[in-house]
Amino acid sequence: MAPVSEPILTLTDVTVQFGALKAVNSVSMSLKAGERRAVLGPNGAGKTTLFNAINGSVPPTSGRILFDCVDMTKMSPQARAYLGVARTFQITNLFGQMSVIENMRLAARGLSASKFSLFGSDKLTSEQDGRVHDSLAASRLTGREDVIVKEMSYGEQRQLEVAMALAGTPRLLLLDEPAAGLSPAERSFLADIIRNLPRDLTVVLIEHDMDLALALVDYVTVMQNGRIIVEDDPTSIRTNALVQEVYLGKPHVVAAETLEGDTDARGL
Ligand SMILES: Nc1ncnc2c1ncn2[C@@H]1O[C@H](COP(=O)(O)OP(=O)(O)OP(=O)(O)O)[C@@H](O)[C@H]1O
Ligand SMILES: [Mg+2]
Repeated sequence: MAPVSEPILTLTDVTVQFGALKAVNSVSMSLKAGERRAVLGPNGAGKTTLFNAINGSVPPTSGRILFDCVDMTKMSPQARAYLGVARTFQITNLFGQMSVIENMRLAARGLSASKFSLFGSDKLTSEQDGRVHDSLAASRLTGREDVIVKEMSYGEQRQLEVAMALAGTPRLLLLDEPAAGLSPAERSFLADIIRNLPRDLTVVLIEHDMDLALALVDYVTVMQNGRIIVEDDPTSIRTNALVQEVYLGKPHVVAAETLEGDTDARGL
């Protein structure tokens, strides 16, 4: 693992282009190991696409991504997961008919060869079993192992997504709006879970609720129209004039750059 002061993740001029649209436009950023970072910005800013570029589900059109000094720009999502990159999704991504522990077993076995065998044992190794146990505890789902996922509250389902991401022992955890759709009580419960994640885990959080995000992170990246418009600490972000303007929903603070030079900027 990288020393605490070294960057664990470095993006250099990363662009993800869909046809004429640069959803992520020449983004460069660097995260220290153990850092907590929020990525904020209006709808369509490119936040999820940035996560897709980092975890490999949508490879960058250009640019370079280093993870713990390894160039993973062209690696598959599986190879990146193996290196320690995990994510949760903006939209719940669970097997609803299965129990919590069955979902966790799948997550824990996600990186093992037995995944590729139809006849492989569904037993976990003791190491995997330990990871499942610890991940459920960190996500405050201990005792809920046998509950069928679709019978859980939405809040618990979002906790399970965090648990499943943790089951692969990531070093970088990308959380895409983990508190979206939750009640205020569920949101603060989930915020507590995120706050208490192991301190050596680097966490990047996409979140529309600025108060929730700013209370959890060391540093903030604000995106608009595919570009980073501000990076600063949470206190400065609260009073930053450009950020306030973006969050009041005024469009075209930063002109969208496309091949046709014409993209609509949606407000929050
Ligand atoms: N697979 C795709 N094909 C074409 N365009 C896409 C694709 N994925 C995203 N986009 C576009 O890229 C832009 C950025 O989308 P993205 O989902 O990254 O934004 P976001 O910041 O996560 O927004 P939100 O806050 O609404 O989740 C949007 O204009 C979106 O329509
Ligand atoms: Mg998104």
